[in-house]
Amino acid sequence: MSWLVTGGAGFIGAHVVRELAAAGERVVVLDDLSSGDSGRLPEGVAVERGSVLDGALLERILRVHALDGVVHIAAKKQVGESVERPLEYYRENVEGLRTVLEASAAAGVRRFLFSSSAAVYGMPDVDLVTEDTPCAPMSPYGETKLAGEWLVRAAGRAHGMATACLRYFNVAGAATPELADTGVFNLVPMVFDRLTRGEAPVVFGDDYPTADGTCERDYVHVLDVASAHVAAARRITADPDAALVLNIGRGEGASVAAMVAIILETAGREGVAPRIAPRRAGDPARVIASADLARKELDWTARHGLREMVESAWEGWCLHHPEARR
Ligand code: WQD
Repeated sequence: MSWLVTGGAGFIGAHVVRELAAAGERVVVLDDLSSGDSGRLPEGVAVERGSVLDGALLERILRVHALDGVVHIAAKKQVGESVERPLEYYRENVEGLRTVLEASAAAGVRRFLFSSSAAVYGMPDVDLVTEDTPCAPMSPYGETKLAGEWLVRAAGRAHGMATACLRYFNVAGAATPELADTGVFNLVPMVFDRLTRGEAPVVFGDDYPTADGTCERDYVHVLDVASAHVAAARRITADPDAALVLNIGRGEGASVAAMVAIILETAGREGVAPRIAPRRAGDPARVIASADLARKELDWTARHGLREMVESAWEGWCLHHPEARR
């Protein structure tokens, strides 16, 4: 099979490209390089620079490279920013997806894989979130991902595409330091950033109804997220009727306090005491995946643990911030 990976030069995209290529799939990347970096891509992978809003370009790439599947990862992904700039998020994430689907249908693509998010669930009031847990996104970002799933399902049905939507939980870690996330938008890099500046990590709220009072999340290694794409690509290749929506998590929670402790140890800052700050608006107490459906449908489970996530992310951080090491 041969795949167009949109957003393939980004943090998650580059890991997906690497794993698809390693699994023997032919890959072409489309990326506008707004936050991506073509230096992340392995040799032999063709890169086209351009926007997912450019339907003519998409159709040309799909036809010229004779691609038969699409992995659509390109998107804007900052929850807070999406509240400030909803029109931009709907344009990039919903109109961008619609354009990619339209070009895919026109070019006869029959396999479509879409990056969704646990953000579709909002504040789930359950111990383990299953794919049947009601979706109630709390940000324009989450809304664009839920609307995206609907669009993928409808277009898949109408145009004869096998589809899979992967709802990522909290992605962390890196396959190599060069592939690490360079954004400072999530817990792990935010703590690295504060330590690098000589400041204490901040914990947003310690009065949640959880075991240690801090929020619990399902952190999943980006390499496991990438291997889930390979498994899903295989599945939608084999099953032309597939219309899957799957959680991609470990099925295990970790608290903010526990993550911060692992980070401090990894960075050699065991003596530093985190500062407890007020709750951050909109944070649910617990968001932990049930990973059963992905196991059943894809024969996939996450293999990497919290320490590997934090240690590999730290190596990547230190590559760009050598002063962080002491
Ligand atoms: C995790 C926990 C914070 C920083 C977001 C999106 C979600 C998904 C992943 C894309 C929370 C706490 C954080 C800090 C802290 N993205 N925290 N101190 O909010 O679970 O999920 O990113 O699809 O859709 O919503 O991730 O990493 O921001 O926060 O205490 O310095 O860490 O309050 O409880 P979140 P996060």
